[in-house]
Parts: sequence; C-alpha cells; structure tokens
Amino acid sequence: MAVTQGDWAMGHISRRAMLAGTALTAGLARPAIARDVPLQVGTMLPFSGTYAALGENIFAALELAIAENGGKLGGRPVALIRLDDESDPAKAPANVNRLVERDNADVLVGTVHSGVVMALVQAAREHRIPLVIPNAGNVAATRDLCAPSVFRSSFSNWQPAYGMGRALAARGVKQAAWVTWDYAAGHESADGFRDGLRAGGAELTHTLTVPFPETNFQPVLAQIGGLGVEAVGAFFAGGGAIQFVKDYAASGLRDKIPLCGSGFLTEGVLKPQGAAADGIQTALHYGDGLDNPRNIAFRAAFKAKTGRDADVYAVQGYDAGQMLAAGLAGTQGDPVATQALAAAILATRIDSPRGAFTLSPSHNPVQTIWLREAKDGQNKVIGAAVKDLADPGTGCKMAGA
Ligand code: PHB
Repeated sequence: MAVTQGDWAMGHISRRAMLAGTALTAGLARPAIARDVPLQVGTMLPFSGTYAALGENIFAALELAIAENGGKLGGRPVALIRLDDESDPAKAPANVNRLVERDNADVLVGTVHSGVVMALVQAAREHRIPLVIPNAGNVAATRDLCAPSVFRSSFSNWQPAYGMGRALAARGVKQAAWVTWDYAAGHESADGFRDGLRAGGAELTHTLTVPFPETNFQPVLAQIGGLGVEAVGAFFAGGGAIQFVKDYAASGLRDKIPLCGSGFLTEGVLKPQGAAADGIQTALHYGDGLDNPRNIAFRAAFKAKTGRDADVYAVQGYDAGQMLAAGLAGTQGDPVATQALAAAILATRIDSPRGAFTLSPSHNPVQTIWLREAKDGQNKVIGAAVKDLADPGTGCKMAGA
C-alpha cells in the first residue's frame, strides 16, 4: 500500500501503509508527526454484561488521566473511540478489526476479559500498534505472546491469587479448593493460588468451575461441604462476584469454611454484597485506605468526575493513561516508533495510586499484593501478602521486546 501525500495532509496514515511503505522502512527519514493531529485512541471494553461496571470505571479513569495531561498524549490532542466488546470472545476479532481498519486507531486500550484480550494482542503484534491492557490478566499476553507493543497496567491472573495462596498457607491452612468461572482467568488464577499454597507447604486439592458468565452456583456450592478443605478461594468479578458471595453466605458455608479469593471477588461490589461479604479476605494490588498522596488525590478526582468511589479497575484505567503519556512523550507523539515508545515506558516509574511501580521485562507490573479484609463496606488493607511480586514470565522472545 502506498503512503500518499494525502495521508499526511489529512494527518492520518494507516498503520499498514506505514509498515508496508518501503521508502519508510528502507531507512529514509519519516516526516514528523503533525502535533495538532488528534491521536486516535481505540478503547475496547465491556460496557454491557457482567463486567460493564468494570469497563465504565476503566474508561472514566483513562479520560481523567488524559485530562490531567492537558487533554493530550505525546503533545497531540486525543480522540477517544469507545467500543463495547460485551466480554464476548466470539465477537472480539470483528470488534478489533473495526478499531484498526475502520477507525484507524493509533493506539489501543483494552480490555477486561482474558479471552477477548487475545484478539487485541494479536492485532498489536501484527500491526505493531501499541496496546495497553487495563485489566485482562491472561498470562500469555506477558509471557509467550509478549511483544514490544504490548503492555499491561493491571496484573497477570497468577499474581493476586498467588498472594492469596501464600497468605493462607502462612496462617497454617493445609488444604484448600478454588471455585471459578471456566475460562482463562479462572484457570490461571487457580495456578497462582496453587503455587502460593505450595510455597507455604499447603496444597490445592480441588478446582470447581461454572461456565462464564453463568451465575447458577448451586451445583458447586452443593459440593463444597464434602471436599474436606479448610478454606475456599474464588475468582469471580463484577455481577458474578455479587451473586457468588451472597449465595455462599446463604448456603450456610461461610461459618464452616472461610471464603477468600483474588481481590476481584469483593472489589467495587461491596455495597450490593452487603453483610454477606463481611470478613472475606482477598489479595489484590490495591486496597481501600492505601495512604499515599497520589491515591488520595486520585480518589477525590475520580469521585468528583463520576460520583463513584474509585476501585482497582479505575486505578488500572488511570495508569493505562499514564503509561501512554510516558511512552508517547518519549516519541513526540509517534505511536509507530515502537522501540522508543517501549523504552520510554520501561524507563518510567509509574506513579500509581496503588503505589509506584515499574514494568517487568515482559511489560507486566511488578507490584505489592495486599491482603485485605472486607469490613464496613471497605476492602481494608491488613498487610502485604507479597511485596514487589513479579509474574514468573521470563521476558520476550519477539525481536526488540
Ligand atoms: C480476566 O478475564 O482476566 C478478568 C476479568 C475480570 C477481573 C479480573 C480478571 O476482575
């Protein structure tokens, strides 16, 4: 595909034109990016379904980070494109295609669901479009499919669950079970939980699953009493987490076998869970009452903008904006300069409300996993489950990563 003068005059050059433009890739100097041409930020998030509230908080906090950066990224004004992915993996390739081919997105931000994110990762790798993942923890994104253009502002599914397993084992629990939706996030968090338990001499004896996004938990609840475990850990989030925590309490299991989990189980959902959540301990890279100035300012700004309390999803959306700001500042707004953009992000300590973090060589946050306890409508931090935890990903095999 030819790179035409018209493309530049319109301030838009399609990525495929850019990458296929032999004059450009032959080493001739590229024209400077026009600083007043809006950078198209394609956001793909769930705005409907069980994860809708998560997508809304990520989007609002991303907007906030861009607004605090003067409405610009890399010196360029920003046009935010908003696409609802419905947390439906079957629709993901077509949705990503719309952002890349129809909307000519310069950078991508998405998504929440570990199955859906794979289509975004594939596009980011193929077209070398910078992608910041503001939630989905699919480990492949920062392990086997690690790439120079793929970054995560959130966590790997392994990280919070590993922290929970470590905390349980440290308290003397010897055998525990994991309950989850039957998809990548659930299975990878089960692996983290297992590894954390093992590190403390305990074991994961059972993993029970429910199809995503179903909320009929009665079949699994009926099995738990007979497993002979001392604790149950769970991965559910959003609408499903509300229902699971209520059903667990209503089943009468709560007083016999304590429920714990990745922090998503009680994150952003404590109000509707009500008393059913009281006392549930979870592990996450964020918690209520983290007493640092950045967090206090962020929570106030998010509340003023949305009328809602910030949660981990908001923090991850905000940090996706901060990472894009750092990367694009390093390339004067050029999203195609992948190596320079990655170098700039990796060199930055992201000043997050969760506490400052850096990225691992595979572009995943190295971060403290806090142990929290749900009480009086808050996920109160009661200690560190694991400090400065990196995902075990061993770095990128893809050239230039
Ligand atoms: C995921 O699918 O990776 C996922 C979804 C929701 C969460 C956490 C992880 O809260």
